[in-house]
Amino acid sequence: MSSAPKFVVLLGPPGAGKGTQAAFLREILGVPHVASGDLFREHLLNKTKFGRQVVSYIERGELVPDDLTTAMVMERLAQPDCQHGALLDGFPRTLGQAVALDEALAKQGHRICQVLNIVVPDEVLVERLSGRRVCRKCGAVYHIVHNPPHQDGACDRCGGELYQRDDDRPGTVRYRLKVYWEQTSPLIDYYKKQGVLVEINGNQSIEGVQAELKAAVTCDGRG
Ligand code: AP5
Repeated sequence: MSSAPKFVVLLGPPGAGKGTQAAFLREILGVPHVASGDLFREHLLNKTKFGRQVVSYIERGELVPDDLTTAMVMERLAQPDCQHGALLDGFPRTLGQAVALDEALAKQGHRICQVLNIVVPDEVLVERLSGRRVCRKCGAVYHIVHNPPHQDGACDRCGGELYQRDDDRPGTVRYRLKVYWEQTSPLIDYYKKQGVLVEINGNQSIEGVQAELKAAVTCDGRG
């Protein structure tokens, strides 16, 4: 088994299914799931000073400035449970963040092992995000049509209350997609040039995406 740390990036537009597939990927990779959106939402929930600095960006569907985002994620990656790597979800999201991450990993003699880019057409994304429900307690992700909970409004895993994210309103969703195409999609070429990008068809069933991811992952300790 390889002992090199496994830093894997989940790339894709809002609603592509990054959060949905993360639990499964975390299992096969054996590394923590580090999602920048979840880290931000934790600050908002706990009403921290940092949360007050970033709340207006998130509510508008804009990206939080690179310096604040990068500092937050790097602090998380410095924690002991990330010493063997991490599954990065939602970060990096700009070329500036991607370069900062590469430089920080290189300083420790590490590099990104693989970038899994989940591809889904925009019109499907709008429908997915407007039907999304998230557990307040454990963060599990559902969809009212494609992946409903057994009991309305309650999480299958922990019984927690399911809610709709403020930034999943249709107007904000469309703006987030525009931001994705302008600021995040250039990362596709950036990682293609590094030879680490793999494209995954996200426009199929959750199980279908999972199977494609399983076949695509090469840094799970096997190779
Ligand atoms: P973040 O929380 O990262 O949101 P996002 O990237 O917009 O991604 P989502 O969580 O919306 O989508 P997802 O791909 O995880 O989809 P999911 O699995 O839930 O960011 C929120 C905000 O924080 C940003 O707008 C920004 O302000 C800020 N931020 C975060 N990171 C930042 C950064 N690096 N820099 C600056 N700012 C940052 O699935 C969606 C729905 O579809 C669910 O209901 C699910 O059940 C359903 N679904 C999933 N897969 C399928 C399928 N195959 N078929 C049918 N339905 C499916």
